[in-house]
Amino acid sequence: PRKIIIDTDPGQDDAAAIMLAFASPELEVLGITAVAGNVPLSRTALNARIVAEISGRSDIPVYAGAEAPLKRKLVTAEHVHGKTGLDGVDIFEPARPLEQAHAVDFIIETLRTNPEKTITLCPLGPLTNIAMAFERAPDTIARVAQIVLMGGGFFEGGNITPAAEFNIYVDPESAKIVFAAGVPITMMPLDVTHKVLTTRTRVDRLRANGNRASLEMASMLEFFERYDEQKYGTDGGPLHDPTVIAWLIDPEMFTGRNCNVEIETGSELTLGATVVDWWKVTGRKENALVIGDVDADRFFDLFIERLGRL
Ligand code: BDR
Ligand code: CA
Repeated sequence: PRKIIIDTDPGQDDAAAIMLAFASPELEVLGITAVAGNVPLSRTALNARIVAEISGRSDIPVYAGAEAPLKRKLVTAEHVHGKTGLDGVDIFEPARPLEQAHAVDFIIETLRTNPEKTITLCPLGPLTNIAMAFERAPDTIARVAQIVLMGGGFFEGGNITPAAEFNIYVDPESAKIVFAAGVPITMMPLDVTHKVLTTRTRVDRLRANGNRASLEMASMLEFFERYDEQKYGTDGGPLHDPTVIAWLIDPEMFTGRNCNVEIETGSELTLGATVVDWWKVTGRKENALVIGDVDADRFFDLFIERLGRL
């Protein structure tokens, strides 16, 4: 199996991604690193441990990382995820404690001690931990196999400002460091994640699995989708973060293009925008495979079947 580190700010859709990874024999989750994002770090670190426990995977270590973006004040998203970040399930103190080590040290250590290009990083939140690791230990950059991340948007626009997607907006300086690092990146922008909707039928199928992880996930999704349903009248909410994991398992369900992607860090109006050269008009070097489309039914078939295994 492919060895991955999930860097995350759970978040119901982060939880969905973590569960999908746990349930998939193609992947070996070496650890979960929490970052401040949807809610403050103390909550994202706790939520990650809760997700591990309700998935029956308390063998997976959880590390806490950056408490704030590199240069900015943290912006959170309780309006989408609820006060706990994981509204829809009960918050409890999991049996397995948080690891003592800092998430950034764990990332650096893992990259240094494993053979070169065998570790895939899966960032599902602001890119602070990854940027900190690259800044502190530049020798690790060339050791990363690839980065598969959820973030950005191009034709679709933004979800936290008209121009920016949440994960990139929260820490644009970190995003800039990561996109400039030279590591092969696969990017799941809103353009694709907004096609993966948790419709009533899909959530009912998930619940019908009957196991704990599926039931808890169905309940989280019912909270999560309320935001989009009430605000935009969609049937279900966008299941952003699991697209990262699905791509690692079955990339054939996605299509995209190799493009140059630059991050806006200067303009107040468009801060955190991902400028994707989809039509290759700049001649700038391609630095990411930008995913634009997905077979949503195939995605949910995989997601539902896999969560039933936990
Ligand atoms: C991203 O922001 C977070 O709220 C979600 O978990 C996802 O990672 C979507 O913009
Ligand atoms: Ca997230």
